[in-house]
Amino acid sequence: MSKSLFSNDFYWGAGSSAFQVEGGWDADGKGLTVADVNAFKKSEYQADTKVASDFYHKFEADINLMADLGLKMYRFSISWARIFPDGEGKINQKGIDYYNKIIDLLIERDIEPFITLYHFDLPYHLVEKYNGWESKETVAAFAEYAKTCYENFGDRVKKWQIHNEQNLMIRVNERMNIYEDKGNVEQLRIRMDHNMFLAYAKASDLCHELVDNGQVGPSISSTVTYPATNKPQDVMSAIWNNRLKTDYCIHTHVFGAYPDYYINYLDDVGLNLEITDEDYDVMKKAKVDFIAVNYYRTITTKYLEPTDKNLKGTKIKGFNEVDYNMYGYWEIIKNENLEETEYGAQIDPVGLRIALNDYYSKYHKPLIITENGLGTADELTKENKIHDGYRIDYIQSHIRAISEAINDGVDVFGYCVWSFTDILSSHQGFKKRYGLVYINRTDFELKDLKRIPKDSYYWYKKVIETKGSSIDER
Ligand code: BG6
Repeated sequence: MSKSLFSNDFYWGAGSSAFQVEGGWDADGKGLTVADVNAFKKSEYQADTKVASDFYHKFEADINLMADLGLKMYRFSISWARIFPDGEGKINQKGIDYYNKIIDLLIERDIEPFITLYHFDLPYHLVEKYNGWESKETVAAFAEYAKTCYENFGDRVKKWQIHNEQNLMIRVNERMNIYEDKGNVEQLRIRMDHNMFLAYAKASDLCHELVDNGQVGPSISSTVTYPATNKPQDVMSAIWNNRLKTDYCIHTHVFGAYPDYYINYLDDVGLNLEITDEDYDVMKKAKVDFIAVNYYRTITTKYLEPTDKNLKGTKIKGFNEVDYNMYGYWEIIKNENLEETEYGAQIDPVGLRIALNDYYSKYHKPLIITENGLGTADELTKENKIHDGYRIDYIQSHIRAISEAINDGVDVFGYCVWSFTDILSSHQGFKKRYGLVYINRTDFELKDLKRIPKDSYYWYKKVIETKGSSIDER
C-alpha cells in the first residue's frame, strides 16, 4: 500500500460480546440468559458460557493488552441480565458497577468504548414469562434497560449499537426460542422481528434524548449475494436474497418504515405484519447515525424453476428458508471462484468493498465494520507462540478492501477485528478461534486461561501505528 487512506481519527478496533468472553455466568447476581441455556445444551461436546474467556475476572489484564496494542476502540456488549437479572424489574447495582469499571479503564487507556446493548443473550426470565420477543412486554423491558444504560454510562459512552445482527438473529430459532411446536412459526418470527424493530426505534430515540452527543445505529450481518450466472432470473434471485436477509432490515431502521417490496412479499406468502397505528408512530422515531456492518463472507444464488426437482421437500413459504418470493425460487450454491475456510465460509474481501459501496449508496450513512475476522483452529507452539499468518492474510485483504471503498468515496470511520481475545464461538466453542490474543484453554480443559498475543496481534499493532500503511509488511 503506497499511501494510507485512513484518516488520523479512524477507529482501529477489536470486539467481543458478553456471553462469548465474560464467563461469570451467575456471578454477582447475573440472571440466566438464552445464550446460557443454549450453551448448556451443548456442554457435552463444546465449551459453554460458564467461564468462556474469563473476561469477567481478567478484564484489567485484557484492557492492558488492548492499550499495548494501541487499540482506539473496543466494541463489546453489555449483558442485559447483569443489569436486570430478570430482564425487567429490579436493577442489579453490581452489574452497573462492573461495566463502570470496564468503561473507566478503557477511557483511562484512551480506548473508545463502543457498546452493543443486546448480543444474542436475552434474559431467560423474559422467555419464560412472555416468550421473549413475541410480546410487547419485552419491548418495554428493553426500552427500560436501554434507558438505564444511557443514564448510567452515557456520560462517558457516546457510541451505541442496539441489537447485534437482528437480521441474522431472527432466523436462528434457538436464539429466538422458536420451535416447531409453537404453531405458525413463520408468523411468530414476523411478530418477533416486528417487536425488535419497535425496541430498536424506542432505544435509538432514547439514546438521542439521554446521551449528550450520543450516536446510535444497528449492526447488520452482511449478506452480499452474487447471481450464479448472468441469467436474469439468477440476478433477480440475488437481489431478493439480499432484500429478505439484509436490506429490508437496514431500510426499516433507516426510514422508520418497512419497504414496499417486503410488505408485498409477506402478503404474498400469507404472513401478516400486525402493525397497529401506535406502532407506526413508534417506528418513525427510529434513529440511525451510522450503520455497523458485520462482514465474513458472500453468498451465491441460483434461480430454480418452480417445477425443478430440487424443490422436492423444500418448504416454499418459509421466511426462514428465504428461497421463495413471488418471482420464483432459488438455492444457495458454492462460488467456485473463492477459497473457503475450514468451516465453509467463502473468503471474499472484494465482497466487503461491494457491501460498503452498496450500503453507502442506498442509505447515505457513515459506516463502521464491527465484525470481521477468521475463525479457525490455532496451534500453540512449544515456545508458546501462535503463528497465525493465515489470519493476518485474511485481515490484511479486508483492510485493503476498506481502503478501496474509502477511495470509492464511501464514508467508513472504523474497523473492529472480530475478536480481541479468542471467544466462545457460537457454533464451535473454543475449537474455532478468532482472537488476536490466544486464550490458553480448550473446550473441556480450562488450563491457566493465559493470554498469549498471536503474530496477528503484533502485525495489527504496527498497522495501527502506521495508520494502515504497513499492511503488506510481515
Ligand atoms: C456473528 C456474531 O454473526 O458471527 C458473533 O455476531 C459470532 O457473535 C460470529 O461469534 C462468528 O460466528 P461463530 O458461530 O463462528 O461464533
